[in-house]
Amino acid sequence: MRITVHRKAHFNAAHRLFRKEWDDDRNFEVFGKCSNPHYHGHNYELIVSVTGEPDPKTGFVMDLKILKELIYAEVEEALDHKNLNVEVPEFKDLIPTAENIAVVIWNKLRNKIQDGHDLEVTLYETPRNFVSYKGE
Ligand code: NI
Repeated sequence: MRITVHRKAHFNAAHRLFRKEWDDDRNFEVFGKCSNPHYHGHNYELIVSVTGEPDPKTGFVMDLKILKELIYAEVEEALDHKNLNVEVPEFKDLIPTAENIAVVIWNKLRNKIQDGHDLEVTLYETPRNFVSYKGE
């Protein structure tokens, strides 16, 4: 019996989607308002999902208090109120799309989650636009 537990979290961050080798017009064509050269912010909503067998002694797949602390230490401390392009090393040469942010978050958490448990990250960039990544 495998069950999925979920923990929601939140962070605010600024970004700009652009390719250095393209001019502002080309970047606007591809990335729209997210290519604003002066950056802009999003209120990101994160859902971290862990799937596994509940421990027979505790009934927990994973202690959600530990998951909460892990998300705080690995994600919120690293990304909240940051300019992703400028202040977060993972995005030095990686465009901070919701897709890439989800992959970065997954990579930060994966080795902290018990072996044999599956991890999925769902990231909302807006209430209607969201992505999910499970390491495949
Ligand atoms: Ni944007």
